Amino acid sequence: MYKEFFGLRANPFNVNPDPRYLFLTRHTEEALACLTYGIQSRKGFVLLTGEVGTGKTTLINKLLEWLRLQQVATAFIFNSRMDVPQLLDFMMADFGIPCDAKSKSQLLQRLYNWLLDRYRAGETAVLIIDEAQNLSDEVLEEIRMLTNLETFTEKLLQIVLVGQPELEQRLKQPQLRQLRQRLTLRAKTHPFNLEESKSYINQRLRIAGSNGDAIFEADATVAIFRYSLGIPRIINLLCEHCLVSAFVDQNNTVSAEVVDSVARDFDLTDGNAAAAMTAPVPSSEKFDLVEALRTLATLADRLRQSEQQDLPKERKL
Ligand SMILES: Nc1ncnc2c1ncn2[C@@H]1O[C@H](COP(=O)(O)OP(=O)(O)OP(=O)(O)O)[C@@H](O)[C@H]1O
Ligand SMILES: [Mg+2]
Repeated sequence: MYKEFFGLRANPFNVNPDPRYLFLTRHTEEALACLTYGIQSRKGFVLLTGEVGTGKTTLINKLLEWLRLQQVATAFIFNSRMDVPQLLDFMMADFGIPCDAKSKSQLLQRLYNWLLDRYRAGETAVLIIDEAQNLSDEVLEEIRMLTNLETFTEKLLQIVLVGQPELEQRLKQPQLRQLRQRLTLRAKTHPFNLEESKSYINQRLRIAGSNGDAIFEADATVAIFRYSLGIPRIINLLCEHCLVSAFVDQNNTVSAEVVDSVARDFDLTDGNAAAAMTAPVPSSEKFDLVEALRTLATLADRLRQSEQQDLPKERKL
């Protein structure tokens, strides 16, 4: 497999939001600081938004890792297509609160008592909801109600809402204005700039075991930035396929020509998908783009599976 060929222990460009690979830019550090500040100072609500593939879930996984080290109770909801009873049940289960409540009011009472116990013990509890742009208005309203669980001075439950920029748009709707008014802290993820993209690629290679020899030629990393516009998920896809391509051709390095060829395979040459992603487009068009990215991710998975069986002599996508 190409890992041995390039002297790597692991696949450096996996598209999983693995916090071990977290690359910190100024923006990422600011976002992480904003999230931890909001939680530590019991602000109640923090919002994290960012374009598709810019690292929201990766950042949240890092935050979860940190919170668990601090012994903070956490509940992480990543399936946002749930209704209110499912949300509450899932949250109770993830917090580990034993509950055989027959009604919603009993359940909320149980939650309130548990939060109060934690508060008296000087501890806090954090509910993180990813992909929140897909939540129904009803569920968003229920989440707002959860912030009413408070003492005279402090919020008992800290909530982090995470979502694509559509979430910001949703929160502007009149029926959600009460929720918006409670959002005192906002954090954002951003695409990387050219220098960050180069360092990002090198850091991932290093963590995966590279000995520091340049695998991507200088103009290849510039080309990767040009096609991806610094969106890490697209950088990963391009880099992974470039490594496969270089391996198939038994080249120790990846050239800009290889990047061009892989980008063409993904239709990233003209009408650049990454460029379209960062432009302010209507949500219906953006939805197609999200679909396109999911298709890319599926292609990447299929390729990885075929690699595990037996790597073909020619790159087939
Ligand atoms: N700061 C970062 N450090 C390391 N890897 C990152 C970073 N940001 C993103 N990635 C990588 O980019 C890919 C996409 O990131 P992630 O899934 O976190 O994006 P997202 O913003 O949650 O996307 P979506 O809007 O689709 O949910 C993952 O493979 C992840 O490992
Ligand atoms: Mg995500």
